[in-house]
Amino acid sequence: MSSLAITGGTPLIDADRHRSWPDITEDDRRAVDRVLQRGTTAGPNAPEIRALEEEYAAYVGVRHCVATSSGTASLHAALAAVGVRPGGQVIVPAYTFVASALAVIHQGAEVVFSDVEVDSYNLDPNRLEALITDRTQAIMAVHIHGRPADLDAVTAVADRHGIPVVEDNSQAHGIRYKGRTTGSFGLASGASINQSKNLSGGEGGLFTTDDDELALIARRLVLYGEDVLPEVTRPYWSHGVGYNYRGQEMVCALARSQLRRLDDYNARAQDNAESLTAALEGINGIAPPRPRPGSDCSYWKYAVRVRPEEIGFDGDPRDLRDRIMGALRAEGVEVSIWQPQPVPAQPVFRRTTQVWHPRADHEPLRPWDPADFPVASALCDVTLSVGSVRRPLYVQEAELMNQYSRAFDKVMAELDTVMSAPYQHSPRPLDTSC
Ligand SMILES: Cc1ncc(COP(=O)(O)O)c(C=O)c1O
Repeated sequence: MSSLAITGGTPLIDADRHRSWPDITEDDRRAVDRVLQRGTTAGPNAPEIRALEEEYAAYVGVRHCVATSSGTASLHAALAAVGVRPGGQVIVPAYTFVASALAVIHQGAEVVFSDVEVDSYNLDPNRLEALITDRTQAIMAVHIHGRPADLDAVTAVADRHGIPVVEDNSQAHGIRYKGRTTGSFGLASGASINQSKNLSGGEGGLFTTDDDELALIARRLVLYGEDVLPEVTRPYWSHGVGYNYRGQEMVCALARSQLRRLDDYNARAQDNAESLTAALEGINGIAPPRPRPGSDCSYWKYAVRVRPEEIGFDGDPRDLRDRIMGALRAEGVEVSIWQPQPVPAQPVFRRTTQVWHPRADHEPLRPWDPADFPVASALCDVTLSVGSVRRPLYVQEAELMNQYSRAFDKVMAELDTVMSAPYQHSPRPLDTSC
């Protein structure tokens, strides 16, 4: 007789065992309240914005940080700063959030997608050389799920061709690759600090660079093309096309306060992940994530792959993954799907023109063939994330990981029941984060 929760058994984990994200403390409340008391709620010289820029730059180990309205805006600024121009091309991993690629279009350039590595979900350095043309103006290294891309190998290819690397550090705040913090490797970097991120301000972004000239370009780009001057008088003198991509004072106050605890969150995520991985490693049909040797990982997503071949399953791998997810969810495990398909499968990258608007629905779509990005496509079919935007690993108690691993044991031990139990084809439980 099955004791699985999907067949009416008692769930292993109470829903209230989870702690939610963002983790808001009294310090955070005081930080935001200070802004309200001060009454300066915006402006490029607003004190919280300026302080966060200085503190984050020092934390990452670069000379400059520019706060922006979103991670997407910070990536746009990074691409513009390193010299990406209309007509150019930027190599972007096929497995990422759509904004990594949209930022390229915002700069008028063309996205060239690259397939990724199986284990890390990151850019596969071995595929880059074949994608480089005389129009390639940057390579974007995204640290997917908070695990650094193979920066040595990516940078070596980029250097050989004189092409700058831009990091998308949205999921890896405070993560070290061979002892150095991500966000300091690219000629310029962008990063999101939206609610879901391990450095969470609500909605915003952080551009970083070590280069004075690039920092100036980014500052102008986020402020209508104008310079930020210390004086009260504003000359109203725009040097070029800029945007209103300014950072927000209350967001920066909250992010500053959270930055003080970022190392603790990262350490907790890594401890939790380590114990969960140790427990899941022995389970047939499941491949837990492993950090890159010599690097940390934020586990913005703890991405588990189901392995149909290990258990002799020859149906649609998504059915296997979804049924396992359903059974885990019923046991009380927080599970979600982050990217159901690679970014180039989305309509926006299959229109016939490179410039469009979101209602260009009349334009025909180019056919999508998963075989064009076999690794990214397969990963999207077999991956489930443990944790979610509101319940990530970086705030959970260690004991919860023991319960998670017991739930995996229980579900995988009764896989026959999981696969034959009545199954409601509810929509896949997508994680609504970005
Ligand atoms: C990898 C990656 N790049 C870019 C972004 C875009 O950031 P934002 O939503 O702050 O614009 C996100 C998250 O949203 C992300 O996860």
